[in-house]
Amino acid sequence: MIEKPLAGKVAVVTGAGRGIGKSIALAFAKAGADVAICARSASEIKFVDQAISELGQKCFSMPVDLAETEQVSAFCHGILLKFDAVDVLVNNAGVYLERGAFADSDPALWWKTMEVNVRGPYLLTRHLVDAMRKGGKIINLTSGKGYSAGVNSSAYHVSKAALNMMTEGLANELWDREIEVNSLVPGPTATATFDNAKPGEERSPEDILSDGPDVLLKGLHAWERVKHPDEVAHMALQMATYAIGGPTGQVFSLARRPMWDAAST
Ligand SMILES: NC(=O)c1ccc[n+]([C@@H]2O[C@H](COP(=O)([O-])OP(=O)(O)OC[C@H]3O[C@@H](n4cnc5c(N)ncnc54)[C@H](OP(=O)(O)O)[C@@H]3O)[C@@H](O)[C@H]2O)c1
Repeated sequence: MIEKPLAGKVAVVTGAGRGIGKSIALAFAKAGADVAICARSASEIKFVDQAISELGQKCFSMPVDLAETEQVSAFCHGILLKFDAVDVLVNNAGVYLERGAFADSDPALWWKTMEVNVRGPYLLTRHLVDAMRKGGKIINLTSGKGYSAGVNSSAYHVSKAALNMMTEGLANELWDREIEVNSLVPGPTATATFDNAKPGEERSPEDILSDGPDVLLKGLHAWERVKHPDEVAHMALQMATYAIGGPTGQVFSLARRPMWDAAST
């Protein structure tokens, strides 16, 4: 096994202040990548920035709201000033703002979900794709809910279905540049989004997992298991380190239920 498979590479990870994005950013830094990160919470981003620097890698971090187009442009501009090219782009940040029925949904929150979960990745990719080197990878964090919606949370389902389609279309367009684009479906993972935590009340993955399967799996498919975010980072690292000619336009899922089963995240 190569000890630092991402040595000399530059990775961008959105939503890297906590949860899956934080685990991915740190796993990539441990694998030798320099990393650019963003999220809205400046304190969380600063903490991860420091951890990446302590691993001996360069980090560019900026508090960014992906729903704000000018902030996304400023982030991308900053990335390209610090690092002149990008090898891996992980569109991880996502929100799950509405969990109720379609008929009760708030149009403003419904649309905000699209702005963060769809327009955010679109803008980021649009700004950075020309700066991506041959062999580059784009990894979009989607969800089984983008395939099988079930009831409620329509904004989230629609946003993830859209992102899956962006993966497929972009894979076709970037095939001849030898840039691979894939979706990563984490399945239920112990994060603030999974825990439906209010801002400021986020628990660590270990704390969430200590609730045990009887609590965590309520309402989920019986075959599911709630994972630590580091397990998702492990898959992201594998996806980021395929040689040129690896899979593209695919969905890598860590779920355990059939993809057509709606009873899960
Ligand atoms: N956890 C699961 O069970 C699960 C299952 C399927 C798919 N996913 C997907 O996995 C991805 C990561 O989710 P997670 O569970 O790790 O969530 P999380 O722990 O809540 O972390 C989300 C990250 O995104 C950032 N973020 C949220 N809104 C943002 C915005 N407007 N602009 C910039 N950054 C923003 C958050 O920071 P700030 O709040 O500070 O901005 C945070 O760093 C998401 O796309 C999610 O849909 C998760």
